[in-house]
Amino acid sequence: MSNKEDSIIKNYLEKVKLIEKYNKSYYDKDAPVISDYKYDELKKKTLEIEKKYLFLKKFESINNKIGFKPSSKFNKIKHAKPMLSLSNAFNNNDIKDFGKKINNYLNNTNLNLIFSVEPKIDGISASLTYKNGVLVRGLSRGDGEIGEDILQNLKTIKQIPHSIKSQDIPKILEIRGEVYIGKKDFEKIKDKFANPRNAAGGSLRQKESTRTAKIPLKFLAYGFGEVKPFILKKQSEFLKKINEWGFKTNPYNSLAKNLKEIDDQYNKIEKNRSDLDYDIDGLVIKIDDLALQARLGNTSNSPRWAIAYKFSSVKAKTKINDIVIQVGRTGALTPVAKVEPVTVGGVVVSKATLHNEEEIIRKDIRIGDIVTIQRAGDVIPQVVSVDLSKRDKQSKKFIFPTKCSCGSETIKEININTKKIDAVRRCLDREYKCQFIAKEKLKHFVSKDAFNIEGLGKKVIDQFWDLTLIKKPSDIFNLDYQRIESLEGWGKLSAKNLKTAINISSKISLDKFIYSLGIRHIGQENAKLLGNFFKSITKLIELFNSFKRENLLKNIAELDGIGSAQLNSLKEFFSNKTNNEILSSLIMNLKIKNSKALNKDGKLTDKTIMFTGGFEKISRSEAKSLVEENGGKVLGNISSKLNMLVVGNSKPTKSKIEKGKTVGVKIISESEWYKLLNI
Ligand code: IVH
Repeated sequence: MSNKEDSIIKNYLEKVKLIEKYNKSYYDKDAPVISDYKYDELKKKTLEIEKKYLFLKKFESINNKIGFKPSSKFNKIKHAKPMLSLSNAFNNNDIKDFGKKINNYLNNTNLNLIFSVEPKIDGISASLTYKNGVLVRGLSRGDGEIGEDILQNLKTIKQIPHSIKSQDIPKILEIRGEVYIGKKDFEKIKDKFANPRNAAGGSLRQKESTRTAKIPLKFLAYGFGEVKPFILKKQSEFLKKINEWGFKTNPYNSLAKNLKEIDDQYNKIEKNRSDLDYDIDGLVIKIDDLALQARLGNTSNSPRWAIAYKFSSVKAKTKINDIVIQVGRTGALTPVAKVEPVTVGGVVVSKATLHNEEEIIRKDIRIGDIVTIQRAGDVIPQVVSVDLSKRDKQSKKFIFPTKCSCGSETIKEININTKKIDAVRRCLDREYKCQFIAKEKLKHFVSKDAFNIEGLGKKVIDQFWDLTLIKKPSDIFNLDYQRIESLEGWGKLSAKNLKTAINISSKISLDKFIYSLGIRHIGQENAKLLGNFFKSITKLIELFNSFKRENLLKNIAELDGIGSAQLNSLKEFFSNKTNNEILSSLIMNLKIKNSKALNKDGKLTDKTIMFTGGFEKISRSEAKSLVEENGGKVLGNISSKLNMLVVGNSKPTKSKIEKGKTVGVKIISESEWYKLLNI
């Protein structure tokens, strides 16, 4: 490295350090030590240097580092109804599937579904609660269950009414919508933030609401949370009504009667996208009928009645500099292409997934190739195609390693369901000797839907892992904070905040705990099923007991939703000695809340139900949800533990009815079932 380069780097890093120091005092301590003007100057200068010297690219841009800290400075408040996210559709086939799934769930293909089609603004969602017309609560989304109290900041937004004066407003009215910054307004402050979304998020979470007030944020309402009493029947009616009440709604919202109309609207809005004064990343397609929305309900993360229809992806050409193998938490070996950094749709991309060995073979992807990569929404960029005309004559096929980066052998398993050989190669280590798997497991453990520890993200896990501060989950709860305080990038305050966040996270529900263990094939839905089954951690860890395991697994096998993949995986996890040790030392540090029956005084509380045959009015999935809503459990087998066998009118299995009779289970017909639940 030349002397000149050396001194530029030194100068640059000094500036970055200063900015980080100022940020800390501003964001963490709310005590700025320099004026806004001086700060802006410094930042601008540093960004200029970054742009000018390409060799500075190896450092993370200050634009990415700077912004806002998800803060422990706001009070946390539980949402009256969870703020879910949406699943994505990337083309009209996905939208077709969305429609099909709805029809299947409702068990009716003749419904004339009407869709509310709304532009999806790429901003920050917020919830506003009005009691008797007065704004009393304002929350950020947070993790969807618990939000941050940002009422004072939201109140500075002109488009958010502080009170609604109208005769017909519900006593409790929770409005949800998007806080965003207009493109023109963003122009004025663009030096400070990476994009308008960051700008909106950053300013919305300022501790001082006067600082939020300085940035021209806007609000568009699109939905509701808790509303009492609620008399409206359609999403479109709701949007119209809240518009009358003084909320701004999107003028491009429309209704569609079929998939073609959805597509027409999609094409029209995508074409005019750049004329809008805000960024949109797609449309949100919702079932307009609110009663149908309620019937459809949610999966664990997203509603069945809505989907985000994302605008088509953006592509770019670049060179593959290297292909590396990443090992995931389930041991899957994923090849990743390190590419020459390119900007794709406003984001700098330096790696792209190659999915698996087969994909590399099929597309014959090689190191040194010029490839087209594509980014769609938040998904990891992918390699779409190779430009063979640009391939070097000397280039060689990429040989996929047969060993894991830890040295262990790998295999391609046979899929239990399809009986085909898996495309994914996996590390065979099951004893936590594979450091790669162990580290990924930790990242899963602290992730949003698991322990959700603020300030302990993937990067910190990497840092603490290298410093041997965290090697297994229980280490998180026995951290050496004095040491952390003195680490580069840390200090007294951030160490204290981390301690608080870890403390808070140590109280956890049983189902989240089960999910956080990262057992293969046990996602959030299955973790919930198991949480409800075991009810307490003491019961769960009986699975480690080889005498009890067999029987417990037999009972679990009866739960509707658990298949052989899940059973094998549970068996493997709980017969492993290392897992036993890890869990024992972990549990000591935690307070794991027992699972309660979903509905303690439901019509089916503590009852086990099984279905045979199809229903005429509803689908099996809806029937299952109804049982759970009413406090019951759905089993997949007849045994003496079964309380009720419901016989659908369409093709019930005779042998099941016979077996039910032998065991002495109560057997009811489809119409009796409707009567029981008042459907
Ligand atoms: S409805 C259950 N409607 O998109 C979620 N969301 O992942 C219902 N968004 O962060 C959301 N415009 O803030 C809905 N017209 C719209 C929207 C919209 C933007 C955001 C929302 C959320 C994300 C969905």
